[in-house]
Amino acid sequence: MMLRLALFVAVVFGAALHDNSLGCDCYETGASFPARYAYHRFFDFRAVPDAVPVEPANVFAAQDKGLENGQLGSAYDQAFLTDWTISTTSTGPLAQAPVRRQDSKVNTYIQGNGGGGSRLVLRAYKVGQFASSAQIDSKENDVLFASIRVNARVSGGTGAAASIYAAAGDSDLDILTRDPPTQIRYTGQASASDNGSAQPIAMPNGVSWGDFNEYRLDWRSDVSAWSVNGALVGSKQFGVPSSPGGLTLSMWNNGGPISGNMSTETSAHFEIQWIQMVFNTSTPVMTPCKRVCAVDGVQKVGYPELEHKGAGSQIIVQTWHTVLVLAMSISLLCF
Ligand SMILES: *[C@@H]1O[C@H](CO)[C@@H](O)[C@H](O)[C@H]1NC(C)=O
Ligand SMILES: *[C@@H]1O[C@H](CO)[C@@H](O)[C@H](O)[C@H]1NC(C)=O
Ligand SMILES: *[C@@H]1O[C@H](CO)[C@@H](O)[C@H](O)[C@H]1NC(C)=O
Repeated sequence: MMLRLALFVAVVFGAALHDNSLGCDCYETGASFPARYAYHRFFDFRAVPDAVPVEPANVFAAQDKGLENGQLGSAYDQAFLTDWTISTTSTGPLAQAPVRRQDSKVNTYIQGNGGGGSRLVLRAYKVGQFASSAQIDSKENDVLFASIRVNARVSGGTGAAASIYAAAGDSDLDILTRDPPTQIRYTGQASASDNGSAQPIAMPNGVSWGDFNEYRLDWRSDVSAWSVNGALVGSKQFGVPSSPGGLTLSMWNNGGPISGNMSTETSAHFEIQWIQMVFNTSTPVMTPCKRVCAVDGVQKVGYPELEHKGAGSQIIVQTWHTVLVLAMSISLLCF
């Protein structure tokens, strides 16, 4: 029983929360800006065991140092912390951002859906001139070019910003709760020629950020591009970041020009079902890619499928099931 439980945890949190694509040398993305990448990560928060449908208590101004404990007792915490850091940094108050932002671990938690299933939640809560916020940073901080996908929804009071960014904010997607529900923003902050302002974009097909959508960021050396549910919504060829960095997700307020102001004693939530990332690092991979795996158009999101075998034209589709069985066998060997 213990071994079976350990195996399950290893598959859900070890393999599935990390690289579940054994048998792939590299990964190929589809759609508007195709590219190949050396590494793949998939973090799935939809079926965390023991997730309870309870939200942790809000943080009040008396606890404004970010010292609150993170969620305990959920199996997720150790596995999650293998790959992510939960921020406790603070900013402000500043003249142009008069609300002190303090990230707290308590605002990053797994919540059960009630009827089964779960999600990762990043929360912002404003009280007085203090905004208790949430941020997670990937421990992989040598990402140099990537295709990043986040399946998420946003809810809550006006004035909060849900952000997804790579390479220290140079390639940024923001969902602002003060915007109409069919509009998001992308920002490139790297270049003086970029006005630095977040460009509003209408989401395709009138979808709302209140519902779960797949937000995608493609960052190549020549372009940054943003897509929603597979449809390209914006791209830019100037000021594309060229230094390695990590992936950051946050839910925040600082009373500044991007987030705006939240009303006191209101909260907002950035709920994340899964995060997928294919990427290169600053160290080039010298081994040739013989086994190319597709990331898009696969049977099951997060489980790349083998496209080509060697240089030949034979196409072998390796299903996610084979990958899962392989992952389980490897986990068994590791135990
Ligand atoms: C990632 O690295 C591989 C191998 O070094 C290279 O072929 C590929 O073009 C790189 N991808 C991007 C988007 O730069
Ligand atoms: C900056 O803003 C000005 C005025 O809105 C616009 O004409 C210009 O194209 C923008 N520059 C860039 C690089 O987006
Ligand atoms: C937020 O409110 C403060 C006053 O509390 C004000 O100075 C600031 O301009 C407001 N920010 C925005 C973006 O409206």
